Parts: sequence; structure tokens; C-alpha cells
Amino acid sequence: MKNKHILVGVTGSIAAFKACTLVSALTKKGYDVRVILTHHAAAFITPLSLAAVSHNDVYIDEFDGTNEAMIPHIALAKWADLFIVAPADANVLAKAACGIADDLLTSCILASTCPMAAAPAMNVHMYENIATQTNLNTLKERGWKIIEPESGLLACADTGKGRLAEPEHIVDFIEKILSEQEENALSLAGKTVLVSAGPTQEALDPVRFLSNHSSGKQGFAIAAAAAKAGAKVLLAAGPVSLPTPEGVERIDYVSARDLEKIMIENAPKADFIIMAAAVADYRFETTADQKIKKSGDSMTLTLVRNPDILAGLGKTKRDDQILCGFAMETENLDENARAKLIAKNCDLLIANNLRTEGAGFQGDTNIVTLLKPEGSEHLPLMSKEDLGRVILNTMLEMQKGKTDHASVH
Ligand code: C5P
Repeated sequence: MKNKHILVGVTGSIAAFKACTLVSALTKKGYDVRVILTHHAAAFITPLSLAAVSHNDVYIDEFDGTNEAMIPHIALAKWADLFIVAPADANVLAKAACGIADDLLTSCILASTCPMAAAPAMNVHMYENIATQTNLNTLKERGWKIIEPESGLLACADTGKGRLAEPEHIVDFIEKILSEQEENALSLAGKTVLVSAGPTQEALDPVRFLSNHSSGKQGFAIAAAAAKAGAKVLLAAGPVSLPTPEGVERIDYVSARDLEKIMIENAPKADFIIMAAAVADYRFETTADQKIKKSGDSMTLTLVRNPDILAGLGKTKRDDQILCGFAMETENLDENARAKLIAKNCDLLIANNLRTEGAGFQGDTNIVTLLKPEGSEHLPLMSKEDLGRVILNTMLEMQKGKTDHASVH
């Protein structure tokens, strides 16, 4: 926990001097702390003081760094495990809420994907202004954690809410966020995840094939989420142009029968198997070696059934393995998907309706129903990577449930 990276943004408030106490307390607790100052903040507190208490460089401008290869707002955003703006003036809250990135601090806020927090400090009327309150609500809705300012006599001689929370309270607040993060983190260390993604292509001849619109995004997002959670990940990837997620071993396939081979070969090593590939149910009976020439007004092509890979995996899976399938339906979603869950002997089935906005093949979001033998759960619209985490977490819980059950008997 103590090796966590905390990025502290300091804005131009009379309370900026308290940032020194905050940074010093965090550093003493063993956190690695870096500080970004706005130009206004640098009028209240010197970068040198903050560098001394953080034992790190302090950043004000985009091009401050001694390392020319480093783009500070991206590098710092990637480095941070938690980003807190303390004190946060009305201006930075407004810019963050609107996505304005006109200096190092706000560019870094926009580039960050870690948990975000702010400790507002300003005049009571500025704090109570509907604009500031709306901005704070917007940020909270996006998941920012806000530590309320305290009430009292303010620097401007007004009395009311607007004083920066005391540094020791901000430290407690940060530690609470970090421990919640730790508790909620998905850990798949020691697990092997096998996931298929993308369409299949069934060749008719060297230039033509039968395929579908699958983009592979959902399967790739699951693979990325599994790798981030520490799993060993094998990704059977169809003919798609997506980059391989970091830490993932990719095995390319073209046809359903190629994919079947990969899945059968690798399934025994896997704890979790996820068939997110959109597999063609049929292939051409024959594949011509040469391009087929046109002749006559019509042409009849014979299709034969492809193996149902998921159903095959359902037959051979071990008790300790968790198998997840996907179903894309255009009608009677719950009923059809439940029938598939049972017929293919899956532990989990993710069903989406092609006709629902935000769901399906090409986009970055999905709206799905998660079906287990004991019941179904309709999930809200979420990114494909968030859905990946939900699926993996559900599989982890199911596996724990099975092993707990096995040890009781
Ligand atoms: O039966 P349906 O194609 O709707 O089932 C979808 C699920 O079955 C997906 O998980 C898909 O990857 C898998 N599937 C398969 N082999 C097939 C057809 C579908 O593994 N031939």
C-alpha cells in the first residue's frame, strides 16, 4: 500500500501553504508523492518547498522536465495511482468539469484514468455559487471523491464554508480511498484466462469468404482487463485490426475450425474460458483453390454446419473451470439466451440485444444481461472493459463458490 503513487495538484488559494504539510505527511507515511503547481499556486508557495518535502521534482509547466522524452501531463497521469487536487479552487473545478486543458495541471487531469479527488478551498460565496456546486456535482457523478471544505473565518474576512480541510483529514480521506481501491481491486494472479474474440472467416475461394460484423472489441477488452488483474491471458484473435493488449499472448485464427483447434488445445490450461468470438454456424462445403468464375444467372452454394465450439467446451470442462458464452439476440433475449446457457452447459452467458442502442458489435460500450443457472441480472450501459471486469469478477466468485462447496463435502 505504501508504495502507492500520489499526485497532488495545488491551485492558487491562500490555503496553498497547507499543501506543504499535506505532502510532507504523505511522504512520511511512505507514499511516493509528486506535485503539480499552477502558476497562481506558485505565487503562494515556492516549488522548492514542495520539492523538499516530496523529495521529487515539482512540475508547473508542460516543458519543465529535464527528461526531454517525457510528456509530463501524460507521464504523470500514467504514473499516478491517485490524483488529488488540494487545495482546489473554483477555477480548476470548473475546468475539470468542462474538460478544459489549458495548463499542465488541467491537461494532466484530463489525461488521468486513476481515481480522482479534490479538496476545495475558496471564498464562501464562490463555494456556494450554483456554478461551483454544479461543477462539484458533475465531478462527483463521474466518480471524483470530494472532501468538503470546513466552515470558519476565511482569509477574505467572510465567515462560512470554504476553508481547506485540515491536512490530517485529507490524509485520512486519501488512505480511505486507497484502501477501498485495494478491497475492490480484481486480482486474478495465478489464474489463466482463455478468451476468443472477433469474427470467423469461412473461405469460398482465395478471394471470397463468409463472415460477420464482429469487431472483436468485447473479447479484446476482456483480455485487457484480465491481464491488468494479473492473469496469464491467451487470446484467440480473429481477423481484426485491433492491437494486442499489453501482457496478452495472442494466437490468431481465421476460420471456425482453426479456432476450435486453438480452444481445444488450450482449454485444459485455463481456469476461465470465455467464448466472445462470433463463430459462423456454417462454412462452405468446399473451398475452391482458384477464384470461382461467374457462369449462368444463378449459383447454388452448399453450406455445412461448423462445430459448436462452446458446446464442445461445455462437454469437456472440468469442475474447477468456469465457462462463459455470449449470445447476440434480436428477439426474446432472456428466453433464447437461457436455452443456450443450458444447451451449451455454460456457467455464465452474456446476452445482448443487437437492437439496443449502446450494445453490440462495433461500439465501445455494451448493455447486457448476465445469465447464470440460478438467475439473471440486467446490467446498465458500461464500457466494454468495465463489462470485462464484471464478467471476470463473476467467474472468480463462481469458481470460489465451487471450491468452497467442494471442500465442505
Ligand atoms: O448459438 P449461438 O451462435 O447464438 O451461440 C453463441 C455462443 O456460442 C458464443 O459464445 C459463440 O462464441 C459460441 N459459438 C461457438 N461455435 C459456434 C457458434 C457459436 O462456440 N459454431
